[in-house]
Amino acid sequence: MSCQLLKGKKGIIYGALDERSIAWKTAIAAVEEGAEIILTNAPVALRMGKINELAQICNAPVIPADATSITDIENLTQKAMEHFGGKFDFVLHSIGMSPNVRKSIEYTNTSYENFLKTADISALSLHRVLQTAMKMDALNEWGSVLALSYIAAQRTFPGYNDMADVKAMLESIARSFGYFYGFAKKVRVNTVSQSPTATTAGSGVSGFDIFHNYSEKIAPLGNASAEDCAKFCVLMFSDYTRMVTMQNIFHDGGFSNTGVSGRIIEEIYK
Ligand SMILES: NC(=O)c1ccc[n+]([C@@H]2O[C@H](COP(=O)([O-])OP(=O)(O)OC[C@H]3O[C@@H](n4cnc5c(N)ncnc54)[C@H](O)[C@@H]3O)[C@@H](O)[C@H]2O)c1
Repeated sequence: MSCQLLKGKKGIIYGALDERSIAWKTAIAAVEEGAEIILTNAPVALRMGKINELAQICNAPVIPADATSITDIENLTQKAMEHFGGKFDFVLHSIGMSPNVRKSIEYTNTSYENFLKTADISALSLHRVLQTAMKMDALNEWGSVLALSYIAAQRTFPGYNDMADVKAMLESIARSFGYFYGFAKKVRVNTVSQSPTATTAGSGVSGFDIFHNYSEKIAPLGNASAEDCAKFCVLMFSDYTRMVTMQNIFHDGGFSNTGVSGRIIEEIYK
């Protein structure tokens, strides 16, 4: 059921790779709620061709941009303003990649070259998106920029590797930029810390199935699905969250505030 929460709003959605992606679900939910959107991903991801299916469903143009390239992001922002006929209202940054995770290089034996790439793709890209939007004055007042994070930014999950440090940086960029963008233009910037979710990026983390199962048993509400996350993102883009900024919000069924659960204790002592 649609409440048209985003009626009249326009935004860019980064990171829809396939139908499992959090960005894919968010694109569909945003359009269902009345938004007009532009889809983007790295040129290499677009070559898979899947995004064209989503573009059809959402009646949205696809504009390629590698999130590590300031030129690409400027071009995307410029084209978005032309397409929308002016400023827009929201951005979803749903981007994450660690070459160390991908190549199973352990945290204690890291490749610093890879580490820098992880940071560039998964955290500095948010700064780039925000800096470009601010310079080009691309976002309307009360606009909302959202990036996706994970609780490994606060607590250690060994398989999460250098992504943990980089998610801590991502959350910090949201806070720091949120301060400046809030004073300058009343634009808000937040991160959503999502449950483990079976997507391409999620499943690439070593031991994913185990900690997906573990958090399902710890969290009183269980793991939040990608669809649930999409709905929450829609709410964060809407006028119902106008005064929320510089926050990292846990969307995890209560996992982050639970020490241990009866379910886990029963399993250990049965
Ligand atoms: N899946 C999980 O368990 C989980 C949990 C918490 C947070 N997150 C975060 O959610 C976000 C979305 O991930 P997902 O789980 O939907 O997986 P996904 O693999 O579907 O999405 C990741 C996206 O990042 C894009 N990307 C990678 N490098 C890029 C680049 N250089 N430029 C532009 N885009 C690039 C990929 O093409 C892909 O579309 C990520 O930030 C991820 O860390 C995921």
